[in-house]
This record gives sequence, C-alpha cells and structure tokens, in this order.
Amino acid sequence: MTELKGERSDGGSGTVGERSDGGSGTVGERSDGGSGTVGERSDGGSGTGLGRELGVAVLGMGTVGTEVVRILRDNADDLAARVGAPLAIRGIAVRDLAKDRGVDPALLTTDAEALVARDDVDIVVEVMGGIEPTRTVMLRALDAGKSVVTANKALLAEYTGELADASRRARADLYFEAAVAGAIPVIRPLQQSLAGDSVQLVAGIVNGTTNFILSAMAENGDDYEVALKEATRLGYAEADPTADVEGYDAAAKAAILASIAFHTRVKAADVYREGITGVSSADIASAKAFDCTIKLLAICERIIDGAGQPRVSARVYPALVPLKHPLASVDGAYNAVFVEAENAGRLMFYGQGAGGAPTASAVLGDLVMAARNKVHYGRGPLDSAYANLPIAQIGEVQTRYYVAMHVLDRPGVLSTVANEFSSRDVSISTVRQQTDHSEVGARLVILTHHAPDAALSATVEALNKLDVVTSVSSVLRLEGTNE
Ligand SMILES: NC(=O)c1ccc[n+]([C@@H]2O[C@H](COP(=O)([O-])OP(=O)(O)OC[C@H]3O[C@@H](n4cnc5c(N)ncnc54)[C@H](OP(=O)(O)O)[C@@H]3O)[C@@H](O)[C@H]2O)c1
Repeated sequence: MTELKGERSDGGSGTVGERSDGGSGTVGERSDGGSGTVGERSDGGSGTGLGRELGVAVLGMGTVGTEVVRILRDNADDLAARVGAPLAIRGIAVRDLAKDRGVDPALLTTDAEALVARDDVDIVVEVMGGIEPTRTVMLRALDAGKSVVTANKALLAEYTGELADASRRARADLYFEAAVAGAIPVIRPLQQSLAGDSVQLVAGIVNGTTNFILSAMAENGDDYEVALKEATRLGYAEADPTADVEGYDAAAKAAILASIAFHTRVKAADVYREGITGVSSADIASAKAFDCTIKLLAICERIIDGAGQPRVSARVYPALVPLKHPLASVDGAYNAVFVEAENAGRLMFYGQGAGGAPTASAVLGDLVMAARNKVHYGRGPLDSAYANLPIAQIGEVQTRYYVAMHVLDRPGVLSTVANEFSSRDVSISTVRQQTDHSEVGARLVILTHHAPDAALSATVEALNKLDVVTSVSSVLRLEGTNE
C-alpha cells in the first residue's frame, strides 16, 4: 500500500496515545516476542495507552553508544510518552563480547548485519563509526525500510548520496544531527527551520580539539606543540591527532553542512583544507595586535563566480577572526556554528560539540523523531540536492589575508614588497613591522583587503623569490569582516 506522507495508512481512527495495546517490553531488556510489523496497529489492549513497542538496534557501545544505552534505559518512560510507544533495545553490536558493559550480555553481538536484519528491529542507531562494514549495514537497514540514526560524519561526508537514495527508495528516515557539532542542533535548523529561507553562509568552529589548542595558545602564549601536549594530557586530543589538527574532521563536517545548506551534494574531497600545525605563537600575538584571534573555521558559502553564477565554496582553515565577531568568544573545547540567511539574518548555535552524553543527546533527539514517524506513519525531511551547484575552487574565493614574513632590514624593502601585492591587485590594508630578535632583519606582517585567493597565492610565490624576503612564514585568511 502506498502511504501518504504524514498520514495513517491503516484506516484506523484512533489517535496515538489513546490506543491501548500489547507493548510490554522495557528498554534495556530483550523482548524477543515482538512480531508485529511497524505501521500496523496492535490493539491487544494492555491498558498502557501506548502503541506497540519499537525495536531499536544499537550499533556500537563506545563513548557515544554507552550514553545512548544509558539514556534509553534511564528515561524509558519519558521517551515512551514522547514517542507514543515504548522503545526496546533488541541488541547492541560491539567488537569485543568479553568486555563488561553493565548490560545483559545476551544483548551483545558482534554481528551488526544480522542484528539489523531482525524482524523486530524498526530503528537502527549507528554509533560504531568507520566506513565498512558500517556503510553496508546501514544500506541493508535502509533497504529493509528501517530508520537509521547515525553520528558518523566520516561516512556521511563520503556516502550521503548513496544513503539518501536508499532512504528515499525505501521511504525510511535517515537522521544525523549528531554527526556535526555533537549536541548542538544545527542539522535540523538548516534542514527544517530555515527550509523557507536562503542560506548564504555557514561558518563553524566544529572541532573541539583544535579549538582547545588554539584557545590555549591565545590564553597562555604557548607554542602549538606545548598546547597539543596539554590537550592530549587532558583527553581533548587523541594519541594520533592528525584527523583533528590537519582539519580532516572539520572538512567532513563542512561537507555535510554545505550539502544541507545549499541543496547540493558536497563530499569531503570537495572541501579545501588546511590544518593548524603551522600556526605559531607569533601569529597568535600578531592577531591579537590586530584585535583578532585565530580559529579553525569550517566555512560553507554561496559565492557568485566571474560569470555571475552561484557556486558553493566549502573550506577549512585557521583564520583570523575579529574579537567582536561572535565566533571569537567560543573557547576551549566548545563548538559553535554561525549562519547567515537572506531573511533570518545572523544566527548562532553554541554548545558542546563532542563527548558521550552531549552527542548521545543529539542521537536520542533523532531517535525520538524517527520513532514518532514510525508511530504516526510520517517521514523526516528528505535529502535535497535539487540546486546541484558547482563547487568553487579555492582560487575563486575572495577573502582577506594575513601574511607574515621575515625581511632584510634595509631601506626600500617595504616598497618592494608592497609592489608585489599591488601589481596583482591585492590591496594592502595594514602593515606592521617588528624587529626580529632571532635573526638579523625584521618581521613584516601585512593585512590585505578582499582579494581572490589565486591572486594572493601568486603574490606569495613572488614574495618568496625576492632577495629582500628571507621567508614568508605564515599566510592566514581573515574572516568575519565586510571591509
Ligand atoms: N565521541 C564523540 O564525542 C563523538 C562525537 C560526535 C560523533 N561521534 C561519532 O560517533 C561514532 C562513535 O564514536 P565513539 O567515540 O563512540 O567511538 P568508540 O568509542 O570507538 O566506540 C565504537 C564502538 O563501536 C564498536 N564497533 C566498532 N566497529 C565495530 C564493528 N565492525 N562491529 C561491531 N561493533 C563495532 C566498538 O566495539 P568495542 O567496544 O568492542 O571496541 C565500540 O563499542 C563515530 O562515527 C564518531 O565519529 C563521536
């Protein structure tokens, strides 16, 4: 039978919440007897006032999964009331069955694929991470009409199209609020609250590790290596911090945000990316002197190309941000996402971007939505890639720049350097010169007005060839200004 979106297809006239039926399993316990199909009423009449219980498969019981299971167990009654049906965990997929996890061992399995295939599983919560076998398991679940809730940004940044197609084909929900910025609601506002607006810009601090490191450098004047060591000691950085400090994690999130904001499928490989390993304490001090701080930004922007056509730019890099910009005050491991939309204007979403409980909060929000849809025969928002805008290359992007260089301390150097900028139409806004105590010469720091990235790159290449320039030590963008 073809269901109409948001309508019941069973001809039943009772309202969910008024039904009294046979759901009996409690969250955290197995209830192997469940046999009814989702979408069917089971009016067996036990007087609970709730619909038939919905079966949940939890894939992964690590940092996030442990909290998902805890909340499902602790808040079972409230969740059942909000959904209109009890949620019952049918099983939990893990790798190591021997680990004590404080749950009934009979719930644990290493076979995620078999778990999601069970007839009594209606919703799959994927918090095990990785690409395979996760992708295959999620596709199988969607193909079988099961709703999928995931926190897996790496997978979504590569395979959103394939997963969204499977979800559309099977009329099954695919939710992923937790994949970007942990607890912070940002996917749903972009997908739903702003569905009638035109988003122009999404600029986020979406990686807590790098924000912790850059904040420590700004506060204590630490070098990058010292701040990284402290982040590792406090558990904010992993033993191998590459994915965070080189911007890969932020790039995956930028791809997801850009895809939703601009109705265009953007993959992680489309995102221009630079990490924070080259940011020095001297850069942080210079930024302060310009009333700025340095943040790793994930920027998704609708830009207009030379032919007047719209394009999507998605980029991740450390950038100077004016202290008066709302993103400048987001410190430590916190995340924030700043949005500019044509009619809504400026919005900012702020909170904990990672961690077990905050991320599980977002997962549970999605799970409740997916479960409600099962109860009410509804559907979540569908993936929308109708705009299909071309992706802009970094060279086309116009922004402002900060260029720091070591130069010889002799007359005429400044005009020689300035000439390289002006000959490529890169207009200089401010110049600061400092005596360089480490070597004979001076440190020159230049801020530019807006210019295309390609022109700035050509300028830097030319500067590096000048006899009077010992080295260009740092090139950063300056974001968040209209000048
Ligand atoms: N941690 C965060 O703050 C955070 C924030 C936002 C999004 N996320 C995303 O959430 C997901 C989970 O992250 P996490 O930090 O919770 O990871 P985690 O602590 O490493 O936990 C992963 C869990 O999945 C299980 N697992 C892994 N591969 C499996 C397989 N092939 N079959 C069965 N079980 C498997 C592991 O089993 P064992 O326990 O037996 O090893 C473990 O329980 C990732 O996609 C991550 O990007 C995490």
